[in-house]
Amino acid sequence: MTRHFITIDALSREQLVAICAAAREVDASVLEHDEIALVFERPSLRTRAAAATAVHDLGGRVTFFGDDEIGLDSRESAEDIGRTLAQMYSVAAMRLRRHADFERIRRATQDSLALINLMSERAHPTQALADVLTIADYLADGDVTGLAGVRVAYLGDVTNVARSLAVALLLLGASVSLAAPAPYQLADSAVEDPRAISGELTLTESIPEALEGADVVYTDTWISMGLEAEAARRRQDLGAFQVNDATLALASPGAIVMHCLPAHRGEEITDDVLDGPQSVVWRQVFHRRSAMRGALRWIKEEDQ
Ligand code: CP
Repeated sequence: MTRHFITIDALSREQLVAICAAAREVDASVLEHDEIALVFERPSLRTRAAAATAVHDLGGRVTFFGDDEIGLDSRESAEDIGRTLAQMYSVAAMRLRRHADFERIRRATQDSLALINLMSERAHPTQALADVLTIADYLADGDVTGLAGVRVAYLGDVTNVARSLAVALLLLGASVSLAAPAPYQLADSAVEDPRAISGELTLTESIPEALEGADVVYTDTWISMGLEAEAARRRQDLGAFQVNDATLALASPGAIVMHCLPAHRGEEITDDVLDGPQSVVWRQVFHRRSAMRGALRWIKEEDQ
């Protein structure tokens, strides 16, 4: 059966651990005969670079399609795009505006095209893989099974990144606090909902509550792609949730600081913290490539 990698919540703990292990290995025979389509309805630097380099690591070849070329539901339907790609590619890794389009493509192609989610409005699962690999490097000697008991605090808008990260961490036994003003807290959604995973999850408006004992402090942009019209209001509403020297002082001494990037310096995080000794953001970027390898290897394993 074709495997897809669309959300973390579709994985068991054992599968997530196996993907993380596969992520750290380079084997140029895995995609030896594979052509991979990279489809981006929204801009990307890290994810596109990670996908292209990871496919190269595994011996495959990529073709890139941008928003204008693909024209999803404007030039042609999501279903016909999927059917077309399935004739020439074994895997389509896609950054889509609407998460529901993965299901449309999956159904239209009758699972003949393996799908990888490179970010939708609901989930960013390859980012979450990179993040747990990074946390494991700093706090568990590189072993994601050692994350049980690690305390992670997320401050600010509870984005797609926060959802996938929280699901991954809870599966691995870490505890997660999501601190945000009420309108920016975890939205109700059947997709990638950490409340559906058993574990220690705290939703709070209190920054001190979230940060007490935190080993990891994570933040993301306040103005996600597509929300630019709300920028001024969001900056005002979320201002108190900035990760800066004062908020960081509320976490455990030496807590690591994470951000999926791109960062809006001076908004959700200050220069001092982003560039400071506790920041591990460049290790996160390094592991974006590892994470893509993990997702691709997991998909291909099922084919063999
Ligand atoms: N973190 C992340 O997804 O970065 P890009 O938008 O640059 O791919």
